[in-house]
Amino acid sequence: MSSFDGKTYWIIGASEGLGRALAEALSRRGAHLILSARNAARLAEMCYKLPNARAVPFDVTDLNAVRRAVAEVGAFDGLVYNAGTYDPINTADWNTESALAICDVNYSGAIRVLGETVPALIHEGRGDITLIGSLAGYHGLPNAISYGSSKAALISLAETMRHDLSGTGVTVRIVNPGFIKTRLTDKNSFNMPMLMAPEDAADRVVRAMSRRRFRTDFPAPFSWVMRLIDYLPDILVYRGK
Ligand SMILES: NC(=O)c1ccc[n+]([C@@H]2O[C@H](COP(=O)([O-])OP(=O)(O)OC[C@H]3O[C@@H](n4cnc5c(N)ncnc54)[C@H](OP(=O)(O)O)[C@@H]3O)[C@@H](O)[C@H]2O)c1
Repeated sequence: MSSFDGKTYWIIGASEGLGRALAEALSRRGAHLILSARNAARLAEMCYKLPNARAVPFDVTDLNAVRRAVAEVGAFDGLVYNAGTYDPINTADWNTESALAICDVNYSGAIRVLGETVPALIHEGRGDITLIGSLAGYHGLPNAISYGSSKAALISLAETMRHDLSGTGVTVRIVNPGFIKTRLTDKNSFNMPMLMAPEDAADRVVRAMSRRRFRTDFPAPFSWVMRLIDYLPDILVYRGK
């Protein structure tokens, strides 16, 4: 019997890519699922295939919709905030609407969902929260206006929560994947090192969720390189630029 068996997980951003593969992986381990994203038809199709799954479609950028979803979902054991969006944006081609939309889903969406759920979890003294960040949150990368900073903000949020939730019975972890082949990375035209299948990335997220460790970065050695950049002098990082 797995540690997920019979437990209820709410996956936000479950209709595509990593979230969809994660729902399938948790379902195989006996978890009951609440699946959220905007695409209600896609979620309904998943619920038809997965046992013990129900759909609660909503948009994380709409606070009233978040509040309605929280009321509809009711009790759960764990929450995965996986909703995310990305468009490659260069500083020279700044698109304000796109940049704001990325922040609104990747970071402000988490603020809305967590703000409406965490106080009740603390009151109950239980709950398991997983935030899906990105290795791109560790260092400003080219053509990632808003995406990198939204993920840096999410990592910082998780770190603050890790301090504040100590002793409450509620756990928080941050999981930072590298490149995964999904509709988001299909927008990239550059070579993506150690590109993973969503199923591979989902298995790694499941492993992270079964451990007590706060932070999981993968895949190594790409994750080591991304973290090492912070320790290099700027003259090396921005050489020739
Ligand atoms: N792909 C990568 O290389 C990579 C690397 C590191 C981290 N990540 C992170 O992993 C997560 C999943 O990414 P992915 O690559 O699997 O992308 P994806 O296939 O586009 O999936 C994103 C999910 O978020 C949902 N979503 C987007 N906007 C939403 C909104 N406003 N309200 C509710 N749900 C919303 C989408 O569903 P709907 O469109 O139906 O709403 C979808 O289920 C993201 O947080 C991403 O930043 C991805």
